[in-house]
Amino acid sequence: GLPSRVTIYEVGVRDGLQNEKTIVPLDVKAEFVRHLEDAGVGVIETTSFVSPKWVPQLADAADLLAELGESGRVRTRPVLVPNPKGLDRAIEAGVSSIAVFGSATETFAARNLNNTLDGQFDMFGPVVERAKAEGMWVRCYVSMCFGDPWEGDVAPEQVVSVARRLMDLGCDELSIGDTIGVGTPGQVEAVLDGLLGAGIDLDRIAVHFHDTYGQALSNTLASLRKGVSIVDSSAGGLGGCPYAKSATGNLATEDLVWMLHGLGIETGIDLEKLVETSMWMAERLGRPSSSAVVRALGAR
Ligand code: HMG
Ligand code: MG
Repeated sequence: GLPSRVTIYEVGVRDGLQNEKTIVPLDVKAEFVRHLEDAGVGVIETTSFVSPKWVPQLADAADLLAELGESGRVRTRPVLVPNPKGLDRAIEAGVSSIAVFGSATETFAARNLNNTLDGQFDMFGPVVERAKAEGMWVRCYVSMCFGDPWEGDVAPEQVVSVARRLMDLGCDELSIGDTIGVGTPGQVEAVLDGLLGAGIDLDRIAVHFHDTYGQALSNTLASLRKGVSIVDSSAGGLGGCPYAKSATGNLATEDLVWMLHGLGIETGIDLEKLVETSMWMAERLGRPSSSAVVRALGAR
């Protein structure tokens, strides 16, 4: 059956804003995070400690965390960290949860990490080891799990192999990324079956769908039916990846919450407040939200 509660892992502030053409001012980012927390969002991926040359949009990572301070609630704010330099910066900023981000394909490892498929494990290994020694919680992503813009189809075995190797580094959670939003539910089931077959616990698996081809909600439902209870989404459907052509926004958190609440699944999120937040953010960004639920409820 379906889970009774789903943990929503909000990525709008990171995956969303990393992809904006203009750099969103720090105070707007901070207010976005506070609005999301006020709407009951429990996990907010807040920024990235990556090279500012690669992602100038998030170069203000340390300043943003300093501006936010302690949340005053039991909230977690993971950040992306690719390498030892990123981990140094994260530790200095007082971060307690991080995410490394691997690729299921050779081409995207080169494009996104300037590395090779095998080389990415050598880069992440010491990062995960030290983060765990510092008492941090560590997530790992696998990108391009259902298709790659340069390589085309990606075999489920390839995804499972990369996921297993990342989890073997000592990560606490695994997020399966459909970076360019091409996957369909049958593929999702095949990958999830593969992961379970490789001994990865169901309660450590998250799904991360971009909605490029409108499949994100169907893929989420297929995942829930397999017992997945951690779902990544982005307020207002913001998102994309600057190093993956044809990647558009993530599954919108509002669309996800609408479906989950309709199914009687708890999220802890106040949908009305969330919609207000995304309407506010859309105004800041100067374009309407791509979320169907934001448009429907926002027009009432
Ligand atoms: P590189 O160019 O090979 O790095 O990039 P390098 O070690 O040669 O360093 C180059 C310069 O960057 C040096 O500065 C370093 O100090 C600096 P210089 O000496 O030239 O002045 N540098 C850093 N500065 C600050 N923080 C750091 C850092 N690292 C190096 N951490 C690297 C390799 C991994 C750094 C680069 O490729 C990178 O930053 N990649 C990140 C790309 C990225 O953020 N992509 C988007 C996130 S992934 C995503 O969106 C997918 C996801 O949502 C899931 C899905 O949808 O599938 C997660
Ligand atoms: Mg993404």
